This record gives sequence, structure tokens and C-alpha cells, in this order.
Amino acid sequence: MNTMTSAPGGTREVTEDEIAAEWRERARRTGLRRVMRSSQPDSLNVGVTRQTRAVVTDQLALVAERLGRRPRHALEIGCGIGRLTPAIAAHAERVHAIDMTPAMLDQARATCRHLPAVEFACVRADRLRPPRERYDAAVCVWVLMHVLDESRLRDTCRVIAKSARHLTLIEYEHASVPVSKWSRLRTLEEYVRLLPGAEVVDERMVDYGGDRSFAALIAFGGQDA
Ligand SMILES: C[S@@+](CC[C@H](N)C(=O)[O-])C[C@H]1O[C@@H](n2cnc3c(N)ncnc32)[C@H](O)[C@@H]1O
Repeated sequence: MNTMTSAPGGTREVTEDEIAAEWRERARRTGLRRVMRSSQPDSLNVGVTRQTRAVVTDQLALVAERLGRRPRHALEIGCGIGRLTPAIAAHAERVHAIDMTPAMLDQARATCRHLPAVEFACVRADRLRPPRERYDAAVCVWVLMHVLDESRLRDTCRVIAKSARHLTLIEYEHASVPVSKWSRLRTLEEYVRLLPGAEVVDERMVDYGGDRSFAALIAFGGQDA
């Protein structure tokens, strides 16, 4: 499918194929620049990565508290190069990590080759099939801001809400430099409206380089353990 997406200003248009090509291109960068702003110094990227892993770890500990046990099966949506995957694997018995960009997944598989409980798949988030048993936790970090088409975003949010009992969602809500044509800034409230049954149970900020992201732990209805 090659849906045309127009930016809020209505002037720029980006196709689904162009988005996929942009991610393939970003996967050719080196190190953390593949999944972070390429203009940022490496030291900032390393610091933010540490901070982000800590937030994901804290929120998975909250999920364990809510369930009264360690999460059994976790889903990582848009795992990129596997920057956060080992932190998720440390707090769940099994991890299913998906991304739509094969070269990102190659790197993630290499990063996680010592982690047999992690399996990867090349899947687009909106094509995910809800599992028979919902994941205890899903983690989605700086991915949905890159889903430009609003109806595609709605489908993606619906499928996530059906697939998981909890979701750690980290997305920019304020950027000091203009966001590129590949991103949309949305508030946590906007995402919550798109996620059926969502209740925010923990919220923090990830601030760096003048940018601000929310990091929310969202629970979905029907919390059968
Ligand atoms: C900014 S990177 C973040 C990667 C990872 N979450 C992290 O924080 O390191 C965004 C990743 O999402 C993937 N992606 C973007 N849109 C996607 C979609 N609709 N379905 C699956 N993966 C997607 C890209 O290929 C890329 O690897």
C-alpha cells in the first residue's frame, strides 16, 4: 500500500513507501544515530539511552507489582537496533520484538544473540495480530510519532490495546527544533483517546537537549492475571 500522508500544514506529503525507505536509510547510519536524531552528539545519545532504559525498567517493575508476578511475555513494538531489548528481557520471561525495517532487526538480533528468550519478527505495528493470550507488557518507544497517517495510527493503537495488558509508551510531546516531515508531535491525551480502555497509571518525563517526551505506563481494561 502506498498511502499519501499530508502534514498538518498541508504542504508536505509523504508516502508509505517513502517512510519505509527513510527507515532503511537511517539503518545505514552508525551506532545510536540509527534510532536517534543524527544531529545529536554521541555523548547525549548514550546518556538518553541510559535514562530511557531506566524508565522502561522502572515501569516493568510496576507491571510486576500490579500483576503480583514477573511479566511472562512482553512485546516490543519498533525495537530498532535492540537498544532497549536487553532491558526488557531482564524483566520478562520471553520477549517478542517487532520492527518493520529488516536492517534494524539484523542489528537487534546481533545485539541480543546471547538472549534466547527474545524472538524477532519483521512486522509493521498495524499488521500485528493480537495473540490468543495478551502480552503482560508492551513497550513502544519513539515509534508512534513516526506513524504519520491518522487512520493507520488508529488501527495501530487499537491492535496494541487488544494485544497487551500494559503499555510503556514514550513519545515526544515538545521539541525545541522543528520536527521533521517524518514525525508528528502528539500529547499523551491524544494517544490515550486512541487506545481503547487505556488508563495512565504512571507518568514521567524524559527531557534532553531541549526536547521533552512523556513516558507513560498505561493499563488496559480486563486485567486478568
Ligand atoms: C526512532 S526508532 C526507535 C527504536 C527503539 N524503540 C529505540 O528506542 O531504540 C523507530 C523504529 O521504529 C520502526 N518503525 C517505525 N514505524 C513502524 C511501524 N509502523 N511498525 C513497526 N516498526 C516501525 C523503525 O523501523 C525504527 O526502527
